[in-house]
Amino acid sequence: MRVNGSIEKLDLEPRVSLLDALREHLGLTGTKKGCDQGACGACTVLVDGERISSCLALAVQYADRDITTIEGVEDPIQQSFVRHDGFQCGYCTSGQICSAIGMLAEHAAGAPSAVTGHLAAEQIELTPEEIRERMSGNLCRCGAYNGIVAAIQESSR
Ligand code: FES
Ligand code: FES
Repeated sequence: MRVNGSIEKLDLEPRVSLLDALREHLGLTGTKKGCDQGACGACTVLVDGERISSCLALAVQYADRDITTIEGVEDPIQQSFVRHDGFQCGYCTSGQICSAIGMLAEHAAGAPSAVTGHLAAEQIELTPEEIRERMSGNLCRCGAYNGIVAAIQESSR
């Protein structure tokens, strides 16, 4: 498995989730387990640059993919989260940041969301409404949503 640019050799049972492989077998505990059933986004990681919920993925299916966890992220958006108080307890933050990076790439590629008004628009403006919709799979129990939206909006400029 390629994780954060390193080749990792693992001998896993087929039922092990990617989340458990990262946390329990590789010690990469930055990726969090919130619900373990795809509902909270705390476990979001990037696979070949796309965001996924690692609790819903079987590790064996990702043997040949490039996985990036928060430990491998070096992005200005991290400073934006600090500047805008985009967290309180921090439990959701690694998932929020990985998800935001994936979401910004989706937006840059022209992907619309459920609230996009003009699908044919040359450039979809990343309004707070768009950000909230596109990040709706990442919950924050502390309610730091205003800071999270502001941080992502700053990073999109
Ligand atoms: S732990 Fe994966 S979505 Fe909640
Ligand atoms: S900062 Fe506490 S859950 Fe989001």
